[in-house]
Amino acid sequence: MNQMLLKICLKIITIKKLLHNTLKNGFSMSEKYPVAMRFLHWFMAVIIISMIILGIFMGGVDKENPLRMQLYNIHKSFGVTVIFLFVLRVAVRLASSAKIPKLPKQISQTEVRFAHLGHFAIYALMFAVPISGYAMSNSYGYPVKWFTIEMPKLFADDKEFAALASQAHEFLAFSLLALLIFHVAAVVKHRIKDKVNLLERMN
Ligand code: HEM
Repeated sequence: MNQMLLKICLKIITIKKLLHNTLKNGFSMSEKYPVAMRFLHWFMAVIIISMIILGIFMGGVDKENPLRMQLYNIHKSFGVTVIFLFVLRVAVRLASSAKIPKLPKQISQTEVRFAHLGHFAIYALMFAVPISGYAMSNSYGYPVKWFTIEMPKLFADDKEFAALASQAHEFLAFSLLALLIFHVAAVVKHRIKDKVNLLERMN
């Protein structure tokens, strides 16, 4: 009798916990992104947002100021880090594709398609932005160091190509910034209008 009572109590606690998670977050725990994806999302978000701010700031530092070169080296080192993390993230994403939670039904099919397209564009830019910076440095004849490690020369010296890569780097970085503003705005919109807290899936 006592054992049966204990079993019933345990069942009630489990159901209560499940309901609590579902009601509190709008999602059950199984609907979160896998932990590696969540970690990479926020780690890369911090680096990429800081890199865009640093990129805008360092261009304005006086050419004679030694700080300028230091900032460029930091920018390049973290740019290479983003390339490494990008490869890791794509590998993790492909390996865990079955565990990526579907967007909830409150979000329309058109918005779901836009979200997928937007995420794909962000992935493409997360690679295109640092690689265009790498190409610019290489083809202008400047070395690329990952902190203290000299990186291989992947693009030959070519001033014309370097100028093109420089324009592409700036354009792609601002496109990524615009997409990120849109990305955050979409999360806020779903929170306020559709009453869906997507942030919980990524936290
Ligand atoms: C404060 C800034 C940010 C917030 C609040 C945010 C929020 C989110 C949320 C809630 C999701 C999950 C959407 C869903 O439920 O399906 C998500 C996904 C995603 N975010 Fe962000 N994010 C931010 C910054 C960034 C940055 C800086 C990047 C990259 C440069 C980024 C790239 C992505 C990508 C690619 C996905 C899709 C993941 C996948 O399904 O493969 N986010 N973000």
